[in-house]
Amino acid sequence: MSAQTQVMTPQACTDLAYAILRRNDRGGYTVPNHSVYPFQWNWDSAFVAMGFATFDRARAWQELETLFLGQWPDGMVPSIVFHAPADHYYPGPSAWGTRHQPPTTGITQPPVAATAARMIVEAEPDRQTALAALSRVFDPIFASHHWWHTVRDPDGSGLVTVVHPWETGRDNSPDWDGPLSAIVPTVDVSALRKDNKVVDPSERPTDLFYNRVMTLVEEAKALHWDGLSVARRLSMRVCDLGIQCILLRADHDLLALAELSGREAEAQQLRDWIERSTKAFARLKAADGTFRSLDLVTGQLAPCVTSASFLPLYARVASPQEAETLIALMAAWQDDTPFMVPSSDPRHDSYDARRYWRGPVWIVVNRMIADGLAHYGFADTAERLRQTSAASIMTHGFREAFDPRNGDGLGGRDFSWTAAMWLEWAGQPARTDTAGLARLT
Ligand code: DGY
Repeated sequence: MSAQTQVMTPQACTDLAYAILRRNDRGGYTVPNHSVYPFQWNWDSAFVAMGFATFDRARAWQELETLFLGQWPDGMVPSIVFHAPADHYYPGPSAWGTRHQPPTTGITQPPVAATAARMIVEAEPDRQTALAALSRVFDPIFASHHWWHTVRDPDGSGLVTVVHPWETGRDNSPDWDGPLSAIVPTVDVSALRKDNKVVDPSERPTDLFYNRVMTLVEEAKALHWDGLSVARRLSMRVCDLGIQCILLRADHDLLALAELSGREAEAQQLRDWIERSTKAFARLKAADGTFRSLDLVTGQLAPCVTSASFLPLYARVASPQEAETLIALMAAWQDDTPFMVPSSDPRHDSYDARRYWRGPVWIVVNRMIADGLAHYGFADTAERLRQTSAASIMTHGFREAFDPRNGDGLGGRDFSWTAAMWLEWAGQPARTDTAGLARLT
């Protein structure tokens, strides 16, 4: 069990959530957590902006604006922006060798920014104020969607290509075991790692994983980080179900923002992308009726269900029957993992309840799943998810992730996105089906 034993009251959690966001604020951007992740992370910041939107909309916009300072000329928004030096993280700027200013990684992360922007707009009572703020980020966000639908879908298939496990945010998910198994490491970075010195190594990815993913970084460096070459030639090329869903949802949200601000050309382009991606989901459906990630090199669907398999609800792309299949699956998992939703199938061999994305629960993923459940008419299940998420936080604090068997806290402490999701959702009874993300569509 984690050290914290005293259960916090909801008010104490709310006070602490504000304190964590203040403490992790580096002046315009928020670090996910000081000891493990001392820079600005892409999808962390989008969720953090949703948290800020509940009490400080100007600061919420600023979080997105600083993230886009790292945007590349081709539209890519990097996974990490290294605004200020910090030597307690590996791999830092020199390991990436990307030449961008401010320094950044060369890969991206799940595109949540448009959804966050829409949430901030919806939280703003004054329309002119909202439109003025939106105008500062609309073009960069649109450029990032353009990048996904062109550079990362060079053949216009409707399925976007992901070239690195860290792009998916679900780093060591069993979804990537197959694609990574083909990569023979050309580097050994085990001695350079810092993450497993500050977090229990049994809760982190293995050295073999790090050696393989840094081998992918070396491959991309040899291609001079050229976007199309990377998309076509890296050894790992997958369609990540998580990103495919998050992008489709973000396309819908950006379309709403384009319509709101009279951007008809962009709106039409978004409608075309939405139609194309929606059709392509048929290629991600497995024989058991669930959706999976797809290895674009081998053509194989991922062998097991993961928490991403529930995100078609968030993307509004599941049929009512597919939604029922997912509800039945959740019910089947409930006994083994009452603190839902485990990041991977608890009945599969690859499951590991405490190792990062191979079992632990992530509150941001729960938030997206709850949004989808509420939309498809499963408000009670969504509310149960909110309650177990809240209980884990109240008992174990604002941890990075939680053990699905008992809600125990895992990984880093005082996590910004867990705090943000408390403020926006988990600490807000009845929020799931009446406000926030679910209100948007
Ligand atoms: C890490 O360092 O664990 C990150 O998830 C990479 O983005």
